[in-house]
Amino acid sequence: MTKQQFDPIPLRAQFPALQLEVGGETAVYLDGPGGTQVPQSVIDAMSGYLRHGGSNSGGPFLTSHYTDDVTNAARAAMMDFYNARRPDEIVFGQNMTSLNFSLSRALARTWQPGDEIIVTRLDHDANISPWLLAAQDSGVVVRWLDFDPTDCTLRLDTLPDLLNEKTRLLAITYASNAVGSISDVKRAAELAHAAGALVLVDSVHFAPHGLIDVQAINCDFLISSSYKYFGPHTGILYGKYELLDNLMAYKVRPAPAKPAGKWETGTQSFESLTGVTAAVDYLAAIGGEAGSRRERLVQAMQHIKTYEMSLSQRFLVGATQVSGLRVYGITDVERLAERTPTFAVSLEGMSAEAVATRLGEQGIFVWHGHYYAVAVMERLGVLEQGGLVRIGFVHYNTMAEVDRVITALAGLR
Ligand SMILES: Cc1ncc(COP(=O)(O)O)c(C=O)c1O
Repeated sequence: MTKQQFDPIPLRAQFPALQLEVGGETAVYLDGPGGTQVPQSVIDAMSGYLRHGGSNSGGPFLTSHYTDDVTNAARAAMMDFYNARRPDEIVFGQNMTSLNFSLSRALARTWQPGDEIIVTRLDHDANISPWLLAAQDSGVVVRWLDFDPTDCTLRLDTLPDLLNEKTRLLAITYASNAVGSISDVKRAAELAHAAGALVLVDSVHFAPHGLIDVQAINCDFLISSSYKYFGPHTGILYGKYELLDNLMAYKVRPAPAKPAGKWETGTQSFESLTGVTAAVDYLAAIGGEAGSRRERLVQAMQHIKTYEMSLSQRFLVGATQVSGLRVYGITDVERLAERTPTFAVSLEGMSAEAVATRLGEQGIFVWHGHYYAVAVMERLGVLEQGGLVRIGFVHYNTMAEVDRVITALAGLR
């Protein structure tokens, strides 16, 4: 499939929510970075689990076996999605934030006062606050990796200055949920590992836009949330097996002693796990019918990336025609591979909230404020003024929708 061949229209038909109308016009969902819609196959899988008759895991009877099958299938699906080495490197949890808090508690137990960790200003607060709190609890020094405010890309060139033999962890985002910049996490992991630090990657924003390969990145941990890529509200942690095995997880006594169960607190949302599998299968199907699921995911994410770059190009060209519109982050159309199609913008003379509200009245759904990327907004100096408007595209958005939001923005002035 080439760029021209990618057609979002048949895919859109699989998403009931995309048929929603506001004021007689089809709604425009540009709130993907806050959560995407789900295809019918995900809805069917989840309701199918509930209809079938489920049970808790580990019982010697039919419905419990069914639940175990569902859980194993979801682990296998996410193993393919992340390219993990084995299914028990996949841990399910309520969401990314909860998984990160639990991991931060476990890692902090291995730190000594005076050790150091690194967080970045480009991250969502779910990959900052858990580490700030863990550092505070254990007397660990926090260092900040900055980003360049002119194009909102991480200053990886300064990472070596922050690393030393005391550094225990680098917590880094794969892509910013505010300004869309993609980080070179592979390079960051190489540098951090050379200093003896562990690396945790937040791939929540990146996941719907590009291929994740934990083995190629060689990160120690990576977390995402299925609801950002066409699935239900469930978080998924990858950890290298030996780390998941050796670290002490906070768990109740009877819970499994081995990964992945030892990290999965309480009873999982099994209906959501069926949805996770269906979401991965939905994406894999975009990659065609030939090959393993991983091979089809590789193809699919390439098609999606190429198509989304064309959406970004159209948006950026259109944005130059709207007077008073400022786009933060990478705006150079030669550098579209370095960003997701997520744009933080401001419109002169109007608050972010007013812009989002007026667009919302026209059935165009966008976020405003900081979207928990508080450090990004602080660094850009826009937190006090109420943050920025976020316009986020995913592969089910169309060129016509890009044009519609550009026209609507122009009309607000
Ligand atoms: C980049 C990023 N990281 C982390 C999170 C938090 O994810 P969750 O809602 O699964 O806790 C989000 C949610 O918006 C996000 O965009």
